[in-house]
Amino acid sequence: MQTGTNSSGPILVTGGAGFIGSNFVLEWLRHVGSPVINLDNLTYAGNRENLRSLDGDARHIFVHGDISDEKLVGSLVREHRPQAIVHFAAESHVDRSIVGPDAFIQTNVFGTFALLQAARAYFSELSREEQKQFRFLHVSTDEVYGTLGPDDPAFTEETAYAPNSPYAASKAASDHLVRAYFHTYGLPVLTTNCSNNYGPYQFPEKLIPLIILNGLEGKPLPVYGDGKNVRDWLFVEDHCSAIRAVLERGRLGETYNIGGNSERANIDVVTTICDLLDELAPDPEAGSRRQLITYVKDRPGHDRRYAINAEKIRRELGWAPTEKFETGLRKTVQWYLDHREWVENVRSGAYLKWIETNYAGRTA
Ligand code: NAD
Ligand code: TYD
Repeated sequence: MQTGTNSSGPILVTGGAGFIGSNFVLEWLRHVGSPVINLDNLTYAGNRENLRSLDGDARHIFVHGDISDEKLVGSLVREHRPQAIVHFAAESHVDRSIVGPDAFIQTNVFGTFALLQAARAYFSELSREEQKQFRFLHVSTDEVYGTLGPDDPAFTEETAYAPNSPYAASKAASDHLVRAYFHTYGLPVLTTNCSNNYGPYQFPEKLIPLIILNGLEGKPLPVYGDGKNVRDWLFVEDHCSAIRAVLERGRLGETYNIGGNSERANIDVVTTICDLLDELAPDPEAGSRRQLITYVKDRPGHDRRYAINAEKIRRELGWAPTEKFETGLRKTVQWYLDHREWVENVRSGAYLKWIETNYAGRTA
């Protein structure tokens, strides 16, 4: 009988200095409280500032290292004996995967493979009782399912994989490896496929924080193509609570779709942010931020629509999102207004170089 991860043992989190990972670590310590070993190699997207509030908290052990380093992961799990591995670490930005796919294959495919190998070796050394508790939870994306037409039904866990970007393809490959380790080696895995997240600590290369910051600074607000591509948006705290539910109660070897029931066209997201900025940070001289909206050259292979059917996780685990898009977006805009220092710290030279690379060739 499976028992699921209880609240007492340590967990190993990968990518816990990134956007979702750092929210997860903070929430885990708030809600569950058992120690977290946080393995992150601090790419441009990883930021220790996100976890500054945990300075001096003995329950958080940060390890600067790469998931592809099987030896390092092996020694970490033997030293700390986690009862679960929660795997967030990845290259996660579609536009970067188009400009340079190599890092995506390296981390998302080879890195996940190395992590699985280390987890499998560790699992084989556990006692029966420890094996019953152990979980490997792989955090994935709805982008593995490809694109939907306007009237297509939302993605279910049975939807065939059809990834269209190098990012989505690398995540699909990692999902398949995770599945294979369950069927072939009996590693107790769980996979979650989630829609677009937004909230505090998101790196400002993704749509929502990019628009908030550009809007604040009076810069153009770049909208790809006709702005009618649709995404389903989930507040990051809801994603974190879903992952905890899957870890505690998910059925081994299963995948769970996670979504926010909040499909929005990009242009609607952008205009909503403009209006929130006008309200929360008015700039009477510049006028409405909507004037800054600039349609630019589309992303190659741009998926038209994503939508999630999250009925399985609701039915089996009793999870549903609690935040509405409008209130979550308002909180997010306010968070960026209140954390200007965090923003300045993450916008390094490398960030500015990326903005130049991605937008210079997209004429209005
Ligand atoms: P992110 O880019 O903000 O953070 C990724 C983190 O992983 C960073 O801290 C980075 O330093 C770390 N990392 C990267 N390569 C590593 C390596 N080789 N070894 C160790 N650490 C490494 O990503 P995110 O938005 O927080 O996404 C986290 C996970 O959730 C990813 O697996 C992503 O595919 C998935 N996901 C994201 C979204 C979303 O909307 N952001 C939606 C669904 C699923
Ligand atoms: P993004 O945040 O990169 O997430 P994903 O590509 O994983 O869905 O983009 C969300 C949507 O916003 C996507 O349809 C692309 C679009 N987009 C823009 O229109 N302009 C931008 O500057 C960016 C970064 C994204």
